[in-house]
Amino acid sequence: MSLEQRTQKWLSSFHWSHQEIDKEKYSSLRSGRTLSVLSGKGGVGKTSISLKLASELAGQNLKILVIDLDYNLANCLIKLGLPIRNDFWDLLNSKKSFDDCLNRLGNLHILSGCSGSLDLFENEDDVERIIIDIIHCHKDEYDFVIIDSPAGLSKKVLTINSYTDDRLVVLTPDKSSLTDAYSSIKVLYTKYGVHTNHILVNKVHSVDQYKKCVKTLSETIETFLGCRSIFLGGIKWENIAGNEFDKFLFEDKKSSLHRTMGKVVNYFTDKLSSETTHGISPQ
Ligand SMILES: Nc1ncnc2c1ncn2[C@@H]1O[C@H](COP(=O)(O)OP(=O)(O)OP(=O)(O)O)[C@@H](O)[C@H]1O
Ligand SMILES: [Mg+2]
Repeated sequence: MSLEQRTQKWLSSFHWSHQEIDKEKYSSLRSGRTLSVLSGKGGVGKTSISLKLASELAGQNLKILVIDLDYNLANCLIKLGLPIRNDFWDLLNSKKSFDDCLNRLGNLHILSGCSGSLDLFENEDDVERIIIDIIHCHKDEYDFVIIDSPAGLSKKVLTINSYTDDRLVVLTPDKSSLTDAYSSIKVLYTKYGVHTNHILVNKVHSVDQYKKCVKTLSETIETFLGCRSIFLGGIKWENIAGNEFDKFLFEDKKSSLHRTMGKVVNYFTDKLSSETTHGISPQ
């Protein structure tokens, strides 16, 4: 069998569009607002911010799904102190159901990726279409679906980022992070027509540094792309070692991170309720 035939056979084994969703199970009519968290540059805090946002929203009695889009270097479960699972590949192959692959923490559900699956590594050609199908089939079971993107400027990831209702671009104040955030916004605009992005600056050392960062990025985006940027605030750099930071992320209620994320939560919940009342406004 040729590679093309094998790929076709593999693809035809997916039945996403035909999967029945158990609507009876979900009594309220949820709007399923989708938000992708991206950055371009790695290590800026996307996973930390995605999970903090998700846990704060879940704390408001909202039903949240987090999809770990770093689908073969998954980190969400590790950060939450949960055991690693490798069943995302089985989900893609319809060997396991979406429900069987979910990790549930009350209202917060996490769909993890794999960690170094060779099968997935060898057969990831059409994975973005399948992930979009998963989002499409299940988003109405949730109030928010948060997509934690990997670093980089891959076509697969940006295709999914362009599909979601909103984007939260996370960056740090260094030049490479600013440049990579700008590059992601530029490709999203020129290739996919995405006009509006929300921006959050993480690991900030001072108010001046935050303001300078906002000025540089907003002026560059406006001048060269004419896109809309909504700055949602800055999060202070915390001098806390890696693993300890994950605990701090969920337990601390006084830090700059907690305050800023509180505002981000209010922003998106307000947006959700106004759009539920008035209909979704154009982006
Ligand atoms: N405000 C902050 N202050 C200090 N350290 C932070 C802050 N935010 C995140 N970190 C640390 O930065 C590191 C990277 O965070 P995280 O894994 O969330 O980034 P990421 O953008 O998801 O990375 P990747 O691109 O690899 O997916 C972690 O060690 C985390 O603890
Ligand atoms: Mg990450």
